[in-house]
Amino acid sequence: RYLKGDDLTEECRALIPSLPLERDWLSTHYHLYQGFWFHARYLDGVLWMQRHFTAADSDTLLVTTPKSGTTWLKALLFSLLHRSQLSSLDHPLLRRNPHDLVPFLEHRLYLESNQSLEDPSFMAFPRLLATHMPFASLPVSVKDSKCKVVYLCRNPKDTFVSMWSFTNSLRLKDTAMDPSPIDEAFDSFCRGVSLYGPYWDHVLQYYRASLELPDRVLFIRYEEMKESPREHLRRLARFLGCPFSEEEEAGGLVDGILTQCSFESLSKLEVNQRGKSASGMENRWFFRKGEVGDWVNYLSPEMIARIDHITEEKLQGSGLKF
Ligand code: A3P
Repeated sequence: RYLKGDDLTEECRALIPSLPLERDWLSTHYHLYQGFWFHARYLDGVLWMQRHFTAADSDTLLVTTPKSGTTWLKALLFSLLHRSQLSSLDHPLLRRNPHDLVPFLEHRLYLESNQSLEDPSFMAFPRLLATHMPFASLPVSVKDSKCKVVYLCRNPKDTFVSMWSFTNSLRLKDTAMDPSPIDEAFDSFCRGVSLYGPYWDHVLQYYRASLELPDRVLFIRYEEMKESPREHLRRLARFLGCPFSEEEEAGGLVDGILTQCSFESLSKLEVNQRGKSASGMENRWFFRKGEVGDWVNYLSPEMIARIDHITEEKLQGSGLKF
């Protein structure tokens, strides 16, 4: 089974007419499935994974909201789980973009997995995988197994600005069109119509899951990772059952991993400056500024008031704050 271009499976084609439809600021079609908005292509990937993916107890699954720092966490988790190779001059992160090392279930793996995902010759165990799927849509086996889920999100204003900037890169490349007006994009995002949106519902589902299943789901915010990276890398290592030993601590491994995966290091690599993914995305688009609070440079006072109000209402009583 290998799908290319706009081919969709029979199942997805049959389902789509029954789903609510929206268009965003790029006139992209979104379909509402299990409470979230998907492009048809990703929806097909989700449906396929719901049927065919069997999680193993040894899997680590990184789940993120789009544009929340997925690239960074993919690099950190890869580096952490393969830390014996850290000082290798041939380290995979020096030659490959983190998205090539930690594939998305419903994007790349779905397109390429014409062989069984459980075949170790296709992918070695223990596996490190990623997804943007909402909690409600995760394959049942993820919930039934003992696999670990690391969830990353980011404050909604920076998430939106990062997403808008990223789609502008795509838009310029694919259509040579001008950047899309930020107010249209913002209105869509606030109405919940964005990739894997509504953003707030995505975050809340995983936040609640992390409270209910603290051994299985670790909830991390980009801002706290930026503020105290050492503490959070240690927390990740403990959660994944591979805490840093005294010798590793004394040998500076924590800082070594953080330096290797820093914005400065990764964004300077040739592969991340000039490389492209199989889907044609340029790796450099995944490294823009990597800062907290860049939204102040883009959002008007009215926009800030609107999104803050939504965030307050949606998160009210949850215990979660940005
Ligand atoms: P900005 O657009 O605000 O700069 P994702 O990886 O989920 O697509 O998220 C992309 C965001 O993460 C971008 O944010 C990007 O610059 C930032 N990013 C990428 N690599 C990073 C790193 N190593 N450290 C911190 N932030 C990083």
